Amino acid sequence: MRQQFNVRKGGFFTSRLHAGCFCAEPRADGVCVFKCSLNRDTECCRVGKESILITLGYSSALLKFESHAEFSSFANTLKRCRNENKEESVFSQRTEEASAAQYFQFYGCLSQQQNMMQDFVRTATYHRAILQNHIDFRDKVVLDVGCGSGILSFFAVQAGARRVYAVEASSVAQYAEMLVKNNHLSDKIIVLPGKIEEISLPEAVDVIISEPMGYMLFNERMLESYLHSKKWLKANGMMFPTFSDIHLAPFSDEQLYMEHYSRANFWYQQCFYGVNLSSLRGAAVDEYFRQPIVDTFDIRILMARTVKYTVNFMDAEEADLHRVEIPFVFHMAQSGLIHGLAFWFDVAFVGSLVTVWLSTAPTEPLTHWYQVRCLLQTPLFAKEGETLSGRVLFVANKRQSYDIQIVALVNQTGFRSGNTLDLKNPFFRFA
Ligand SMILES: C[S@@+](CC[C@H](N)C(=O)[O-])C[C@H]1O[C@@H](n2cnc3c(N)ncnc32)[C@H](O)[C@@H]1O
Repeated sequence: MRQQFNVRKGGFFTSRLHAGCFCAEPRADGVCVFKCSLNRDTECCRVGKESILITLGYSSALLKFESHAEFSSFANTLKRCRNENKEESVFSQRTEEASAAQYFQFYGCLSQQQNMMQDFVRTATYHRAILQNHIDFRDKVVLDVGCGSGILSFFAVQAGARRVYAVEASSVAQYAEMLVKNNHLSDKIIVLPGKIEEISLPEAVDVIISEPMGYMLFNERMLESYLHSKKWLKANGMMFPTFSDIHLAPFSDEQLYMEHYSRANFWYQQCFYGVNLSSLRGAAVDEYFRQPIVDTFDIRILMARTVKYTVNFMDAEEADLHRVEIPFVFHMAQSGLIHGLAFWFDVAFVGSLVTVWLSTAPTEPLTHWYQVRCLLQTPLFAKEGETLSGRVLFVANKRQSYDIQIVALVNQTGFRSGNTLDLKNPFFRFA
């Protein structure tokens, strides 16, 4: 028998089930034969592998499920109802409610999922990484963290996965479920609505797949959710992607710098419909310079070889990403004005058969991550052969993003500059 249930906001469920104490058979017409309401005080416990005992007043109902997957799906729903306003998950502790609401509303839109799916470089590289390493998936149990439409879960099944747990916190989970049903894969892909930090899986997994990278790699703080999910990974399990390299290099771009000033010059006007705006010009300059710039550029603007910082998803823990410090020493390959630092990242899928790279470098075909540039408050002059040293510090905030601090020094002249930026509020400059 297939157990079915639906949950409404207030934590009310209707269920068709095999009951222990309440023996109830489902009716062929699909009419609900068992109803009860849940709240945070509802007592329940797991019985054996696939049953749950719920206490309802003076009676108890033993709910037996047909499979582990159904059990786990129901148990997660139950957990959500009972946990409302009770315990704070790792996710809710590190995230402002308003930020999370906006974030998951964004990902709940099919248009946003489509946007990612239509990034050919991204989707085709994931497909290749998974299918070319089919032996890592054949007959394996896989966890897809933030499955969205479920596209990566389908790839895992194509590579031979026995079972995929597809976890998704936004409302797009319901569409993923529709795709699973419509593709006749309900026996293999189990969509679990909820946050990875808050759901339970019925078993440990062999492989974790996910696409958790944001602008500048770190934006969205989803990498932490990806690392959190390792609590479900078997001791010798695999992570796809396995590690990531963030690259940075100094750049020269007078036009970009002047453009930022010009935008702020709107506030320099002394007679805007008769109003003097000029007292706000300084604040406007500060605001614009705090915005990382998302676009692409010609690599000839880069003035030195890149510095690389690696995050190894096999070893890293969530707390490692709360504060990421990247020291740098650049050996200047040309003389000129340094206007800021350019950033991009690569991720590697290290499989048993091949290692596949997904790159967002300016030398590679463009992706929806583009590249990101951070301006210095004041440009720095450096000559070929001199060194630029300093550090970039990423400090995580509760808006699912980072505050970025840059300090830079031309060692030979002592000239210094820097900036503080807000990764949550980038400036999208691409045409
Ligand atoms: C970048 S999208 C990737 C979607 C899909 N995996 C793909 O490759 O097309 C990230 C997805 O993860 C979901 N997500 C983010 N944080 C999550 C969390 N803590 N738990 C569950 N889902 C999460 C988002 O709602 C979003 O749908």
